[in-house]
Amino acid sequence: MTTLLVHESHWGNTRAVAEAIAEGLGTDDRSVQVVDVGAAPSPLPAGVDLLVVGGPTHAFSMSRASTRRDAHTQGAEPGHDGTGIREWLAGLPAPAAPPEVATFDTRVTQVRRLPGSAARAAGRLVGHHHLGKVVATESFFVEDSHGPLVDGELERARAWGRQLASRQA
Ligand SMILES: Cc1cc2nc3c(=O)[nH]c(=O)nc-3n(C[C@H](O)[C@H](O)[C@H](O)COP(=O)(O)O)c2cc1C
Repeated sequence: MTTLLVHESHWGNTRAVAEAIAEGLGTDDRSVQVVDVGAAPSPLPAGVDLLVVGGPTHAFSMSRASTRRDAHTQGAEPGHDGTGIREWLAGLPAPAAPPEVATFDTRVTQVRRLPGSAARAAGRLVGHHHLGKVVATESFFVEDSHGPLVDGELERARAWGRQLASRQA
């Protein structure tokens, strides 16, 4: 069983969540590859049976070139402006053996009642492009645009990873 976990992150919060999810997923009989979206493979390598994709919610959806530039202007880490999960998913050829797919995002806790979620938008894109079957979608929360993560979110991410692994077992 092989999991590919692709993350996009501008201040490191989504990356930290991705690593916690990978810890939860990791078991002796499952290989988990965690990659930044800038280095994510396309097409999907053969044998991936679970694809986990996560990024920050930007402007109620997945990031775009313009919102990534805004993040950079607001002091985010350099080097993440080029490709986001939107572009990676949109460019991915439909796999011959579609994997199960789980999507996640990070977003700001104070506006958690607002509808926009990169995870849900990514799930819709996966459906439109026939990339796999979406089996789970989750949001994790930060205090502010640059972070930090709300207390307890890394533990919740580990638990979500464990849940994903157990539904595949
Ligand atoms: C341009 C921009 C737009 C954003 N729009 C939203 C939004 O619509 N909803 C929200 O909850 N957070 C929004 N945020 C906050 C991001 O979700 C937050 O920066 C992200 O979760 C941090 O994760 P990262 O460190 O992995 O980039 C926005 C941030 C930026 C830079």
